[in-house]
Amino acid sequence: MTPLLLEDRYGRVATDLRVSLTDRCNLRCSYCMPPEGLDWLPDDSVLTDDEVVRLIGIGAAHLGIQEVRFTGGEPLVRRGLVDIVRRTRELGPDLDISVTTNALGLSRNAEALKAAGLDRVNVSLDTARADTFHRITRRDRFHDVVAGLEAAQRAGLGPVKVNAVLLRGENDDQAPELLAWCLERGYELRFIEQMPLDAQHGWSREGMITADEIFASLATVFDLTPAEEPRGSAPAELFTVDGGPGTVGVIASVTRPFCGDCDRVRLTADGQVRNCLFARSESDLRGALRAGASDEELAERWVVAMRGKAAGHGIDDPSFLQPDRPMSAIGG
Ligand code: 5AD
Ligand code: SF4
Repeated sequence: MTPLLLEDRYGRVATDLRVSLTDRCNLRCSYCMPPEGLDWLPDDSVLTDDEVVRLIGIGAAHLGIQEVRFTGGEPLVRRGLVDIVRRTRELGPDLDISVTTNALGLSRNAEALKAAGLDRVNVSLDTARADTFHRITRRDRFHDVVAGLEAAQRAGLGPVKVNAVLLRGENDDQAPELLAWCLERGYELRFIEQMPLDAQHGWSREGMITADEIFASLATVFDLTPAEEPRGSAPAELFTVDGGPGTVGVIASVTRPFCGDCDRVRLTADGQVRNCLFARSESDLRGALRAGASDEELAERWVVAMRGKAAGHGIDDPSFLQPDRPMSAIGG
């Protein structure tokens, strides 16, 4: 079939596919889920390993996908992860393949993931203190995350990136400490502004820590200079720390949206294409897949799904409505 592009009405072309492999998670970060967890997707609605791999294959072979990032929930709780990575690598020797994980259990899997063809990991960690970690995630697992980070680095899954969210009154005074901790260990830290994607709808504009606040807090300890590299479609604004070589990124998703440069498209664990984290609707591929659609038909549906992509998330508009699905069901 003739190659197609996942192009929207504004000329943006999606080449970066985020694949959520499960909506489940073994942490309960307060900005993501309530303590009791969520009503998880029923097992039969979740794509099988074969189905996931087939859709990734269509994206890579026919739709110009160049990067695949596995997300969740927590992708490591999906049994078949290593195998899915291996099969994805077989589909595309040149694909950039990464995983966004909370790193629980990564110490056991890092070597196998590397051998399967994984390029990199992004680890979510909001603090360098065990007690703060326990409070934010409601689980006493800080040391497992540290072990997971170390294993990832040893296995060559680098550069290891750490994603952190700051919460007012919880860890917003710990930004410099977390940066020092990451620099010492050679992890690339990026702070992400908290977005209105929590299941409990607890987000507020006043409550979130802004990129300007993060920058001001870091600047009390470190000398930050804007990095030379052009930002392109990468959402992080990068700074060199104390003259280098260390860097820190700030992802100002809310206060300085980068929707105009977006090159992402998402596939949920239950086989829906989401053209944006904040989309109000999705396009079902699972139904067509299970009804026997050809690769060509699935590719065409996917192309159509991109046409409705909004120009921006509009979090600052009075009419903004939070998506029905929380982050854990969409995939970071
Ligand atoms: N806003 C910003 N980041 C979030 N994450 C989860 N929920 C939110 C939110 N509401 C982060 C996690 C992880 C990545 C997948 O997204 O901490 O780093
Ligand atoms: Fe799990 Fe990530 Fe949600 Fe935390 S933010 S509960 S690690 S899915």
